[in-house]
Amino acid sequence: MSCRVVVLLSGRGSNFRAIVEAGLPIDIVAVISNRPEAAGLAFAREHGLTAVALDHTQFADREVFDARLADEVERHQPDLVVLAGYMRILSPAFIARFEGRLLNIHPSLLPAFPGLKTHERALAEGVKVHGCTVHFVTAELDHGPIVIQAAVPVRADDTPDTLAARVLAQEHRIYPRAIQWFAEGRLVNKCGRVNLRDDSASQSVLSTES
Ligand code: GAR
Repeated sequence: MSCRVVVLLSGRGSNFRAIVEAGLPIDIVAVISNRPEAAGLAFAREHGLTAVALDHTQFADREVFDARLADEVERHQPDLVVLAGYMRILSPAFIARFEGRLLNIHPSLLPAFPGLKTHERALAEGVKVHGCTVHFVTAELDHGPIVIQAAVPVRADDTPDTLAARVLAQEHRIYPRAIQWFAEGRLVNKCGRVNLRDDSASQSVLSTES
């Protein structure tokens, strides 16, 4: 039986598109957005996928919204919940309900630069290598066990936008790979470290562009 995946997103949805276009052996059973106008939701509809808008501004607070969101996610009986540019902090209760089957992609080499504006901050720190991370979500923001990372060199003339574009291209490579591994049951999560059951594949991608 193929892996049932629910995708949560808030905007553009380019990672979601990359996941769809990768043709993975998964069943995307619903795409849910806290922003009704999200381009990712429109893409889901165009592809005949179940697209659900749950506008967080219509709820009293985060706890009430997250409880409703969790019920909506659960209704689709996911094996895996994929955060693909979901730009709201999830409450501990939501995370507890889906822990172990909740993946996120973050635009930095965690644990460096959790939170927002990662590309600006990387440039301000003068780092020479930046990148992106797919990780399991835990209660601590942007800190869960790491599944795969991709690194890109930082150029002297990079701006936040040029750096973001090169990192995003790598995001589109590693997220489908991580999801495929999960779907194949190959991720072994032990003591905060995630290894592959058969280690022929690499959990680090080094971009060759300079
Ligand atoms: C991506 O860069 C993703 O890593 C980031 O938002 C962007 C969404 O783009 N996520 C976070 O910052 C989560 N903390 P997309 O909508 O085109 O996939």
